Amino acid sequence: MTAPSSGTSTLFVNASQVVTCAGAPRARRGAEMNDAGVRTDVGVAVVDAKIAAVDAVASLRQRFQNAHEIDCRGGVLTPGLVDSHTHGIFGRPRFDEQELRAAGLDYMEIARRGGGIHSSVRDLRARSENALVELARPRLRRLASFGTTTVEVKSGYGLTLDDELKTLRVIARLAAELPMRIVPTFLGAHEIPLEHRGSEAARKAYVDILINEMIPAVASQRLARFADVFCESGVYTVDESRAILTAARGAGLLLKLHADELTSSGGAELAASLRATSADHLAAISDGGIAALGEAETVATLLPGTMLFLGKTKHAPARRLIDAGVAVALATDFNPGTSPTPNFPLVLTLGVSQLHLSVAEALVAATVNGASALAMASHVGQIAPGFSADLALFDIRDVRELPYWYGDNRCVATFARGKACYTSDLAIT
Ligand code: NIG
Ligand code: FE
Repeated sequence: MTAPSSGTSTLFVNASQVVTCAGAPRARRGAEMNDAGVRTDVGVAVVDAKIAAVDAVASLRQRFQNAHEIDCRGGVLTPGLVDSHTHGIFGRPRFDEQELRAAGLDYMEIARRGGGIHSSVRDLRARSENALVELARPRLRRLASFGTTTVEVKSGYGLTLDDELKTLRVIARLAAELPMRIVPTFLGAHEIPLEHRGSEAARKAYVDILINEMIPAVASQRLARFADVFCESGVYTVDESRAILTAARGAGLLLKLHADELTSSGGAELAASLRATSADHLAAISDGGIAALGEAETVATLLPGTMLFLGKTKHAPARRLIDAGVAVALATDFNPGTSPTPNFPLVLTLGVSQLHLSVAEALVAATVNGASALAMASHVGQIAPGFSADLALFDIRDVRELPYWYGDNRCVATFARGKACYTSDLAIT
């Protein structure tokens, strides 16, 4: 028996299940994804910002004698969900495009007409840093209210040096202010800005600005941990994406790639060859792309909410990816154009009903593998001793209810680094 701890300790007691996702501190692949480490009859001890123990409540009470207790009232405790792909800094919501799509206009056709990402770019450029902080704060808090405690947030609606830096400063300010863990990604290569679309030379000039001005500035000001590119037919080619990501790696950034979202362009193969931390979307991944990711460490981050919202019937081949030994993560892709949902449990529903994941696979995809898609699997994504005390408590009795009550919000509270991020009015005491 270890001596009573001296830090501030808290015991989470009376959970009907604790979904630990405990195991090796790395991405889970293949059959490993099918074990979410569900335990009954245990509590969780948190000391300061970390998980100290997962054990029978009686022995936790002995070991942590003056601990404050949180009564989970029969709910289910999971690791805080890790949303590893969002575009959370934007101005106006683009609800007008939804009806255009319903009337038959395709997402890329809307973009070709100057809408889509271009519309958010015009809007964001006109807003101040302070105004963007005010808009983004409640949106990120809404993500936390569904169980998310770690969120990756991309820039990418600025597309000039100043507007991209402004966006990344907004992310940095919210990361310093909010209790949730926020991971910044530079996505200056989200689109070719309209003012650079007139000619090949103008287009090349923007890629040069990305490589020679934006990436060095972002890296030297330490405003991003990752760089990302939208590699897609009509947006960035594989060659442009390779050049931009190679420069980003040279500047010390880790790599992500929007790959094979709508058409198969060799994005997954590129991500694997660059040893990117993640390749995201993949609804149109080729057989060669699946094989390439199977050989790589790159996490496949799937975003079924995007396909649902765009009205597409095609989904990423999650089962084939898992069978090929790829580590699969799930995320919301929260953004104003293709996935305006902050509801991560809804994405778990889609993971099960559309991607044919088991509930355990979906949970691992949203925790350990999400953390791995952010290069954080050593300390985030598990309820295990030494891991960050990032927890979500849900008003359900069995974790299989989480993807079952679809569209509902059963989250009662979230904690990041041991601090409350969110508590609902059904607050536990
Ligand atoms: O992940 N694919 C590119 N980026 C976003 C969409 C952004 C937008 O439409 O504003 C996505 O789907
Ligand atoms: Fe995206």
